[in-house]
Amino acid sequence: MTDDTFEALQQQIATQHTTEQRITQLFAAEDEGLRHALEAAKAAGLPAIQISPIQGKLLQLLATLCNARKILEIGSLAGYSGIWLARALPADGRLLTLEIDAKHAEVVRNSFANAGVADRTEVRVGKALDILPTLESEAPFDLVFIDADKLPYPQYLEWALRLTRPGSVIVADNCIRGNRLLDPAQGTDETEKAVAEYNQRVAQNPRLESLALAMDDDFTDGFTIAVVRPEERM
Ligand code: SAH
Ligand code: DHB
Ligand code: MG
Repeated sequence: MTDDTFEALQQQIATQHTTEQRITQLFAAEDEGLRHALEAAKAAGLPAIQISPIQGKLLQLLATLCNARKILEIGSLAGYSGIWLARALPADGRLLTLEIDAKHAEVVRNSFANAGVADRTEVRVGKALDILPTLESEAPFDLVFIDADKLPYPQYLEWALRLTRPGSVIVADNCIRGNRLLDPAQGTDETEKAVAEYNQRVAQNPRLESLALAMDDDFTDGFTIAVVRPEERM
């Protein structure tokens, strides 16, 4: 690589970084509640693997777009994505978030209270695949956000389809991982193969309109977003 090419690449990365920062500042600035959630997570020793502010704002935008009153999240961590989602709900709306780790759930409840969304949120502790079959009576959800362990992503998709209605939105995080998940032949381990399978199923399901978007902090990972088609267009 010549020095000129190297410099051009460095310039491109710097530009991307500045763009991301400026979009965040203008459209996705964190308030006190979101900052507190991140600090509480750090203090409790939780990994900093939450979505980016831009991803949080996109979730909020999607929830608002589909007039979400009931939202289901799989994988709460410290409540960061949950706060973004809960802020899109009307006062009588509901975010149900599933979390396997009781210690994480405790942090989440505190962070939800601190962010002023305790009244419209509920954290249910357990293995998502055990809880999902119990949610039929609380369905349909207007938006489902999948962001827990990656091996069951294809099963989470099946549950999301069962627990939604035409017009609902199904979003999953970590669907790109530096482009290895967009082609089933590329996945290097079981986890990557499972998420590649998720993408494949979403893209090919005639009931869904979908797109994967690279949009995390460094544009190497992101969401796959799907809308359940209205019946008459299936
Ligand atoms: N959505 C969060 C990040 C979630 S990280 C945010 O962006 O703020 C993934 C979370 O899923 C972790 O807290 C982990 O404990 C939880 N998790 C992992 N396996 C799970 C399972 N089988 N059922 C429910 N939660 C699970
Ligand atoms: C991991 C999980 C996530 O959901 C994420 O967004 C980033 C990293 C992880 O398990 O390492
Ligand atoms: Mg994630």
